[in-house]
Amino acid sequence: MDEDFPNDESDLTARYLSTDGDAETGLRPTSLDTFIGQPRVREQLALVLHGARRRGATPDHVLLSGPPGLGKTSMAMIIAGELGTALRITSGPALERAGDLAAMLSNLVEGDVLFIDEIHRMARPAEEMLYLAMEDFRVDVVVGKGPGATSIPLDIAPFTLVGATTRSGALTGPLRDRFGFTGHMDFYEPVELLEILTRSARILGVRIDPDAAAEVAGRSRGTPRIANRLLRRVRDYAEVRADGIITHPIAMAALEVYDVDALGLDRLDRAVLGALVRGFGGGPVGVSTLAVAVGEEAATVEEVCEPFLVRAGLVARTPRGRVATAGAWEHLGLVPPPDLVIGAIEVRGREPQPVIDLSD
Ligand SMILES: Nc1ncnc2c1ncn2[C@@H]1O[C@H](COP(=O)(O)OP(=O)(O)OP(=O)(O)O)[C@@H](O)[C@H]1O
Ligand SMILES: [Mg+2]
Repeated sequence: MDEDFPNDESDLTARYLSTDGDAETGLRPTSLDTFIGQPRVREQLALVLHGARRRGATPDHVLLSGPPGLGKTSMAMIIAGELGTALRITSGPALERAGDLAAMLSNLVEGDVLFIDEIHRMARPAEEMLYLAMEDFRVDVVVGKGPGATSIPLDIAPFTLVGATTRSGALTGPLRDRFGFTGHMDFYEPVELLEILTRSARILGVRIDPDAAAEVAGRSRGTPRIANRLLRRVRDYAEVRADGIITHPIAMAALEVYDVDALGLDRLDRAVLGALVRGFGGGPVGVSTLAVAVGEEAATVEEVCEPFLVRAGLVARTPRGRVATAGAWEHLGLVPPPDLVIGAIEVRGREPQPVIDLSD
């Protein structure tokens, strides 16, 4: 993403693209103690790591799941940091052939942390090789083809696998079962985002008033990556159009320019919501149909937009598909139909609806 063009809105809407540029690296939290938010995952992980350290063993394999930008990669780095070991990084799509994984595994040194990002996108042969590696610290390398093929067992050093996924449901059962601990990262509370923004502003040397920081926090969709990105965009605005200090009016004006609405929804979120409400009368409609309507990939709509829309109480998942809540109609400035019913539950306001997770 080109940081020189702050008006490029794809910077905000295309957050599912890999945009961890240098700007993000310096803002990553560096230890479990200084990591802001996710108190449950932090406590659980601290026990896993310290328990293993007391026994002098390598910790169990860890799976981190949750929507993009909540700190899974940062947490993987912290795990290696806390253990004082090296971190080897790869990703599911990079492990197309089992041989790619075998090479990676055979280079590990005892105690290393192997981080596989987007682990749900690993090819099947690599995944099957990983089962054995996780369980027995061994891989079977197949040499040759056809009837003459032989399999050579190869020992690998005991290591800790950290897998990250935005779709834990897409993981196969056998793979999921081999993780000793799964940490579910959840959206952040506005107060936590405020703390993160305050810290980031300090690191970036940006002056931001507390009420301006609170405004940005409230529009960050519960996501630190978005909070930090909005901070950089608001800083641009303050530097170009004002004296560089981010006051509340400056933040409001900047957020308006970048098309981030009061709930923090951006163009893609609003397009999805608009399609659901205007195009399909509020649903129910399948996520793939919705994705076609907004010209996006189904996976993007499902993994990037939907979790927050559900969390914000704007969209409900029902057995028959996605449904807009009354809050969604109101957010778009429309009057919800009087007979709006979601599943068997009548919808009132923007209260969180019971979620029935049936992906189509
Ligand atoms: N708890 C936190 N405190 C401060 N900053 C954070 C925190 N969590 C995440 N961030 C910031 O958000 C950015 C994104 O975090 P990270 O890359 O770890 O997310 P991710 O869950 O791996 O996302 P993806 O699924 O897209 O890979 C980081 O660069 C960091 O600046
Ligand atoms: Mg990541």
